[in-house]
Amino acid sequence: MYWLGIDVGTGGSRALLVDAHGHVCYSYIAAHDAMVMHKPLWAEQDPDNWWAASQEAIRGVLKEAGVNGTAVRGIGLTGQMHGLVLLDTNDTVIRPALIWCDQRSQKQVDFVNAKLGADQVLHWTANPLVTGFTLPKLLWVRDHEPERFEAVRRMLLPKDYLRFKLTGEHASDVSDASGTGLFDVAHRRWSQEMASGLGLDASILPKTYESSEVSGAVSQAAAQATGLVAGTPVVAGAGDQAASAIGNGIVAPGTVSCTIGTSGVVFAYLQEPAYDPAGRVHTFCHAIPRTWHVMGVTQGAGLSLQWYRNRFSPDADYDELTADATLSPAGAHGLFWLPYLMGERTPHLDAHARGAWVGLTAKHQRADLVRAILEGVCYSQKDGLEIIAGLGTRPELVRLSGGGAKSPFWHQLFANAFDLRVVTLETQEGSAYGAALLALVGTGEYGSAAELCRKAVKEVEAKDPQPAAAEIYGKRYHIYRELYPALKSVFRAIGELDG
Ligand code: XUL
Repeated sequence: MYWLGIDVGTGGSRALLVDAHGHVCYSYIAAHDAMVMHKPLWAEQDPDNWWAASQEAIRGVLKEAGVNGTAVRGIGLTGQMHGLVLLDTNDTVIRPALIWCDQRSQKQVDFVNAKLGADQVLHWTANPLVTGFTLPKLLWVRDHEPERFEAVRRMLLPKDYLRFKLTGEHASDVSDASGTGLFDVAHRRWSQEMASGLGLDASILPKTYESSEVSGAVSQAAAQATGLVAGTPVVAGAGDQAASAIGNGIVAPGTVSCTIGTSGVVFAYLQEPAYDPAGRVHTFCHAIPRTWHVMGVTQGAGLSLQWYRNRFSPDADYDELTADATLSPAGAHGLFWLPYLMGERTPHLDAHARGAWVGLTAKHQRADLVRAILEGVCYSQKDGLEIIAGLGTRPELVRLSGGGAKSPFWHQLFANAFDLRVVTLETQEGSAYGAALLALVGTGEYGSAAELCRKAVKEVEAKDPQPAAAEIYGKRYHIYRELYPALKSVFRAIGELDG
């Protein structure tokens, strides 16, 4: 018997099977079309492309396992957070989704703060509104595409569109709903105050569940499309970061993870909601009932390296690039990388921020450019870690996961830059793994996600900081912290010229 986790990521959809012990048995990924960027800092994807990729991934993983859908006892969903999927009265997608890293909606954020008051927004939703969240994207459509907005009957998040295609249900879970800007995170329900204060029809919002609750079952039509069996239960699942945290065993106070995918996220478990007064980290519901989490987000973490490779070394794989980076010394001969390729959330909350290498000289080689990118992502994640430590969670170690954890070199850089022990885990499949674990809990195999994680999640490799390198990074981190304030007004001026 297997439990299936499906992750609607940015780069692709992954389907993954675990057994009753929570061990990963098979995994299959189907690529998505690249995000469409009509303007700098805009980003869209087609929800039906996610559905096509998910069908391929489900069929692919069943084939790899040599089983049919009858072997699947339960399904858990996860995906990129914050994306805006709009459906009309026939449940047809109205326009391409504005996805998590789209930054076009600063005016809408300003409008909400002016209309409702930034303090009220913080009070009702536990977070200041940022362009990354779903609400300002919805308001952008209301402002710029009124005919499309008129047609809206439902607003879903990316994984919830997949749920709709699998089960016919319009539903979400509390962790993903937390990232909309319309959710009362402390009370785990939609904020009627936010919706009515903005003149929005709350009936467009889907029903929400706790992450391991069953939200529906596979329909006949979806069974035909995927090879699954009609009636198979589908649990609510979680946003990719909360699901990934389940996969990383972040289920008790004091535990912290760092997940390097397209984005980079430092994530800490909370027993009660805790807030950064400046709102630089998000406070969201966790995928475990009555618990919360706080997270700091680097918009362009893995994206920085992917961007570099695609633009300058399309024939190199990531191992070659990181091998190259080892030829440059700690500090990359004085070169710094600001990973703000898609604006930035933590710690700057600035949709206008841009990426930059600072400190270039004629001496710099490709190895330095790549090393600076890897180091810049470490510094940016350290920014999040420092804020989380200020809220009371200073960890003894950090669990590293996501594509970035596959490089032993980057793993050591994180340990040195954080000046903390950093451990990798047996399973690197991140959010799809967490979603499958939630399905195991939801179908009654385990009493709680925490109990399952204690059994299933295993640390495999620890790297401790190397004192000399940690000292170098400690000094350079102070310089890194001065770069954004020095460039902030320049980024804004560039944005104004560039539209
Ligand atoms: C989290 C976030 C990203 C996306 C894409 O707030 O925006 O992690 O979910 O992975």
